[in-house]
This record gives sequence, C-alpha cells and structure tokens, in this order.
Amino acid sequence: SWTPEHFVDSMVLALQHTIGPDEKVILGLSGGVDSSVAALLLHRAIGDRLYGIFVDNGLLRKDEYEGVLHAYKGLGLNVQGVNASQEFYSALAGLSDPEQKRKAIGRTFIEVFDREAHKVEGAKWLAQGTIYPDVIESVSVKGPAVTIKSHHNVGGLPDRMNLKIVEPLRALFKDEVRQVGDTLGLPHNILHRHPFPGPGLAIRILGDITPQKVDLLQRADAIFIDSLRQTGLYDQVWQAGVMLLPIQSVGVMGDERTYEQVVALRAVTSVDGMTADWAHLPYDFLADVSNKIINQVRGINRVVYDISSKPPATIEWE
Ligand code: XMP
Repeated sequence: SWTPEHFVDSMVLALQHTIGPDEKVILGLSGGVDSSVAALLLHRAIGDRLYGIFVDNGLLRKDEYEGVLHAYKGLGLNVQGVNASQEFYSALAGLSDPEQKRKAIGRTFIEVFDREAHKVEGAKWLAQGTIYPDVIESVSVKGPAVTIKSHHNVGGLPDRMNLKIVEPLRALFKDEVRQVGDTLGLPHNILHRHPFPGPGLAIRILGDITPQKVDLLQRADAIFIDSLRQTGLYDQVWQAGVMLLPIQSVGVMGDERTYEQVVALRAVTSVDGMTADWAHLPYDFLADVSNKIINQVRGINRVVYDISSKPPATIEWE
C-alpha cells in the first residue's frame, strides 16, 4: 500500500535517474504547501543543484516573505529571495479592474522570474509543484497537451530557456502531498497553511493598489490570522482573510468625529474551494478581533463580517 516513506524513496531514485548528474533545476517557491514539498523532495534527490526562487511581490501577508525565506533556509534549501515589490506596485499603479490587476501581476511575475532564472547558468530543468487535481483540471479545460494550470504557469520560460519540465507531485492528492511534506520535515505552519491566492492582497484591496493600502491591510489581516491561530480556530476554517473596502464611514474617537476605512473579515469552511459556507465563528471571537483592529490599526474605524456563502458569492471579493 501507499506510504509517504515509500513514495519519497522511490521518487528520489526516479529524480536521480531522470536528472543528469551535473544538471541544474529551477523551481519557483511560493510559501505554499505544493511548491515547498516539491522543493524538499528535489533537494533530497539532487541537493544544491536545485535552485529555488522565491519572489516577494509586495502583496504577501505581513512578515510572510522574511518568515518563509528563513524557514526555507533552515531546511537547507538553496533558495534565492527576490524583493520585487516596487516592480509589482509600479505595474499595478492606477489599475482598479480585478482582471487587469491579475494580468499585471502575472506579467510582472514572469518578468521577474525569467530574469532570476537566467542567472542560473546552464539550467536544464524547470520543476513545478503541480499536483493531481491541477492535472485533471487543466486536462479537462484545455485538452491533454497542456498540463499546467495558468496561475502555475511561468509563461514561455520553458521554451525560451529550452527547459524540460519535472513535476514530482503530479500523481498525488493534497492529503498525500501533506503526508510527504511531513515525512520530509516541513514545519507544521507551512504544511497546514490556508490556501492563499497568487495575486495575494491585491485582490483583497478593492480598487487600486498603493503601498499604504497594502500596509493597512497587512496589519488588520495579521490581527485576524494571529487571533485564529491563538484560539485554535485556524485549523477549523478552510481560508480566512481581510478585505479592504473602497469605502469610508463615520466614527467617533474621544470627542472627535472620524471618517476612515471599512474592512470586512472573511472566513469560510470548504472541502475544495469550489463551494464554501461562511464560518460560524463565535461572536466573542469576532468582537475581540474587531476591537483589536479598530484600536491598533489607525485608519480603520469599522469592521464587518461577511456572511455570504459560495455560490453565489465567491471566497475572494474580486
Ligand atoms: P473564489 O474567490 O473564486 O476563490 O471563490 C476560490 C479559491 O481560489 C483562490 N483564488 C485564486 N488563486 N489566483 C490564485 O492562485 C487567483 O487569481 C485566484 N482567485 C481566487 C481563492 O483564494 C480561493 O482559495
């Protein structure tokens, strides 16, 4: 029967057999479960001939870039962090339409990744953390020739650099990927991380993006997520986050009238993200998070809770 230990042993042998003894492999790391597990597996097979690239797009959660990069290095991975926040903010400047924002982020990611990948001289392979559900989804949508989901795709890089693709997790379901990650020593906080969208906080800031808005949202989001972790509720929800709304509302502080931003908390339960129910979080918990955000994040004076299920609402607001 299938065990993560057997899978690791046989995949390591298969990778050593497939990848030539001097050949280099490039892998984009996102901080998510799949790319992290793929990295550990390849690292066990070929050591520092795996070149990980982790891009800070300026749209990650608070302290996420530093924390995850530190964790990767602690695991012995050969990973290059790339701080490209300004490039992403420039590409996003003035854009409010959700799809235009996604396109600008996708395009910028390809440019940044491409540039870093070209620094790895003589690279032969591009590794991807594609898992079985990704394979099924892209086959049914795009036909059998294409096996890479668009948001996992790094554009025409494989062709331009003449890279071959290696996808060691292609046959695994998510729970199997987690078991393999556990066997390889991936820390619990990465192993059981909520899904996080590729475009990051850009699709949780309704309207146009500025570094100031990102900072505001990061601070509110960190309060929500830390509170979920501290109360043990984190593992009971599929996904959670905060939406920064393009609205100001009136409040009072002392004898002063305020006119500041509104944020919406979003937390859902789900099996696969396709359908979702709003999480029935305890009122006391919501009250506590609301107080903390309003007291600690200057510029936000109102917090609301999203009680919409999917469908017809989506998990993200954009
Ligand atoms: P929705 O909002 O469509 O989200 O209910 C379903 C799941 O997909 C994630 N999501 C994205 N992930 N790029 C991604 O990589 C995207 O553009 C994107 N949009 C939504 C969302 O976080 C949820 O897990």
